[in-house]
Order: sequence, then structure tokens, then C-alpha cells
Amino acid sequence: MIRTKNLSDSIINAKPPTSRKGTKSSGTGKSKNQGKEPEPFDFGDIFFMNDESDIASPGEDPDSLFLKKIVDEIPLVPPSELFNMIGDMGYKGQNEARKSVSLMAYRHVRRLKRIYVDGESRENVGKKNNLLLMGPTGCGKTFLIETLFSGILQLPTVIVDITPFSETGYVGQDPNNILTRMYHTANRDERLARIGIIALDEFDKLASSQNNAVFAGAGTTKDITGLGVQRELLKMLESSEVNVPVELTHSSYVETVNLQTADIAFVAVGAFSGFNAILNRYHKGSISGFNRDIESRKKLYDDHSIAISWTPEDVENVAYFQSYGFLPELVARFGRIIPFAALDRETMYQILEDNILSIIRKEFAVEGIKLEVGEDVIEHIVKLALKRETGARGLNSLIFRYLEDKAFDLFGVAQTAKLTAFMDGEKISSKVE
Ligand SMILES: Nc1ncnc2c1ncn2[C@@H]1O[C@H](COP(=O)(O)OP(=O)(O)OP(=O)(O)O)[C@@H](O)[C@H]1O
Ligand SMILES: [Mg+2]
Repeated sequence: MIRTKNLSDSIINAKPPTSRKGTKSSGTGKSKNQGKEPEPFDFGDIFFMNDESDIASPGEDPDSLFLKKIVDEIPLVPPSELFNMIGDMGYKGQNEARKSVSLMAYRHVRRLKRIYVDGESRENVGKKNNLLLMGPTGCGKTFLIETLFSGILQLPTVIVDITPFSETGYVGQDPNNILTRMYHTANRDERLARIGIIALDEFDKLASSQNNAVFAGAGTTKDITGLGVQRELLKMLESSEVNVPVELTHSSYVETVNLQTADIAFVAVGAFSGFNAILNRYHKGSISGFNRDIESRKKLYDDHSIAISWTPEDVENVAYFQSYGFLPELVARFGRIIPFAALDRETMYQILEDNILSIIRKEFAVEGIKLEVGEDVIEHIVKLALKRETGARGLNSLIFRYLEDKAFDLFGVAQTAKLTAFMDGEKISSKVE
């Protein structure tokens, strides 16, 4: 499956109707999905049914009533089913991470139902479930969230690339704009925005040692280390009320709405490159206080390796994240930290065959060309990709590179042809018949 990334845009699953008058929302535009497409949750009827001035009886809070109706309609899909739906949409492997994310999504909806439908108190149901996903580049972290958010979860969801966010006063965006995105996704309804899930992609870029915020104005003494943004995120990750600008703007005179974050779940996602080196420093004992780890640790990671699979123990210690540049109290607000594995040979093979080649074959077919790629060619490409340690990210360009010359000659002019890619010794070759 070939996909383009547009992480800075809001991704809307269950798009509410454009007016509260009950217009039915139409399709979701999920052309990228493979297999069955789950029905989008349609807020339309609820908006229509719930002209709250008609329904709320005296003494009843119309906002609570509105959310009760909305949340009641959200389907409670078992985690095992969510897991399978993600697979049906072309996601391969990462079973442990996929399980954790599916469970988190289920628990989020169940929690909402207990609070908004059953009327249980938040003390009773416990805090929201925030997740932190980490693992090597190209192993499917962002893709997992994109898949889950692009139709499976029938809630307002948004993926935000955190890189350009910096503390207010610097060139960059106000962290509260993260919630502005959620507000927009929820059709500018602050009640709906209260129940969504926000993914913070490239979260590791907030580490104080790595932040690239552009400094606006010389000579000030403000903190540009990224800790400012982390402090702002602390508020959102907990339950708080935030004044959220209604528009994405740098102006300080923008109108705001009050948004409660007690029930917005957050998923932070990042590659955390360089985390190896920190783990190794701890385990070699060069950072004191964690000597117990030395005995338990069998091997050290190569400081410079990229495609590494961290164990749950590797990521459980908040102190490691503190050394990486995070406020311990921020990391502690993620109830679960999930390490993704580097993609193995078999999973890469499946991704190349099922997701990437199938699309390339269709493209060639449109041009009248039957494309045949030998198994040994696929194996070879996978081997190259594993060597590059870029996960599945480079697979598409790796294979296409060998087809490019023939595509140039044949596209637009061939009536019918057969193009075969095969191994010629250690090299990939191709012939047209
Ligand atoms: N497990 C997977 N199943 C199917 N496709 C995958 C998988 N992992 C990666 N891919 C493919 O590789 C591309 C890159 O993956 P993704 O964007 O999720 O990487 P990432 O883990 O977020 O890496 P980074 O840390 O560099 O952002 C995806 O768009 C998808 O096409
Ligand atoms: Mg990513």
C-alpha cells in the first residue's frame, strides 16, 4: 500500500455534519483502505435528534444530555476485532503493539460510556489511557495510528506533527493549537472535542536536547529547550480546562473556547533515535543509581544501530526518558509505553508483496503491461531494505528504481507487454516481451 503522509493535517474519521440541522455525513474518502471498510459513525442523526432545547427537561444539563446521546451511539468494538480490522486494512505484524493500541481504543470508548452514559464518576472509572509508542523508523508507528484513525475508530481523532510546536513566543505554534485542531475536527463543537483521541507524532522531537524551535527575536532569555512545550502538554494530558484558540493563528487576540481535557486520550509517537546510547550508559553503570540493571542486562545495543527492538523493560524506566530530555512527570502521564519491534524479513516481504507490489502491478496494468516480479527479486529488495535500516519506508522506492527505465519507455505508448523482473546473479534485471 503506497501512502502519502500529511501528518500536520487533521484526520477526521467520524466527520460530523456541516450543520447541526441533521445533514447526513457522507463517505469517508478512504480509498487507501484494503478489505472491508467499517461504516463511519454518523453523527448526523444525533445532531438532528438532539436539538437540545427540545429535549432537555428542567434541571437537566443540555451538554451532558447531548454527550450522553453521542457517546451512547459510539460502537463498542472489542479489542480483538479492532486488531483484525487494522490487519484487514493492510497493516502487517507488530502484534504486541497492535494489541496494546486496540485495547487502549476499546478502553477509551468504554470509559466514555461509563462516564457519559452510565453517569459514573471519574474517580470510579479511573484516569484516561494515554499511550506512548516508540520504535525504529519505518516500522509502522505512524501508520498504525493512521489506520486506526482513518475509519476504524468512530470518534473525533487528530494526528498532529509536534515538530513545529514550540513555546508561545517563539516562531512555531502555540501548543494549545493542538486542541484547536481537535476542536476543528469535532466540527467546532467543544462538547464533541472533549471525547476524542489526539496523536502527537514525532513526539521525541520535543526532547530538550533535540528541539529545533526557531528563536523569534534575539536577546531574550526565554527557554528554547522544548521544556516549555512539555510543560504545556502536561496540562492537556492531565484533566484540565484549557482556553483554546478557535483559529490556528499566531495572533494573541483570537477568540477562545474553553475545552475540558479530562477525557481526551493522547497517543504520543516517536522513533527516539539515540535512546540506545542512553540505555547503554545506564547499563554500563556510567549513570549511577541503576546498578541493578547491570546484572539483568545480557547485551548492550550498538549506539548507532537504528533498527532495534527495545524490550518492555528498556522503556519502563522514566529516568531513561529524563536523560533523553523529557520531564519525568510528562512521561509518567503515559500509562503505557509500547516498544515497536524492527520489522523482520517476513513482515517486510508481506508488505512488499501485498501492499506495495499489488499497487505497482495495478499501475502497470493500466498502462497495458503485465508486471511479473520473481520471488528472489522480492527477497533481494527486502535484504537491501534491512541493510538500510529504514524499515518499510524505503521499500517502494527500492523496487520502483529497477522498473523506472522500462516504465519510461513503455508508459503511455505500450499496447500490451509483459515486463519481468528477475535476478541476474547479484543484480536485478528486467526484460520486456
Ligand atoms: N507494520 C506495517 N504494515 C504495513 N505497512 C507498513 C508497516 N510499517 C511500515 N509500513 C509502511 O511504511 C511506511 C512508513 O511507516 P511509518 O510512517 O508508520 O513509520 P514510523 O514508524 O512512523 O517511522 P518514523 O519514526 O520515521 O516516523 C508506511 O506508510 C507504510 O506504508
Ligand atoms: Mg512516524
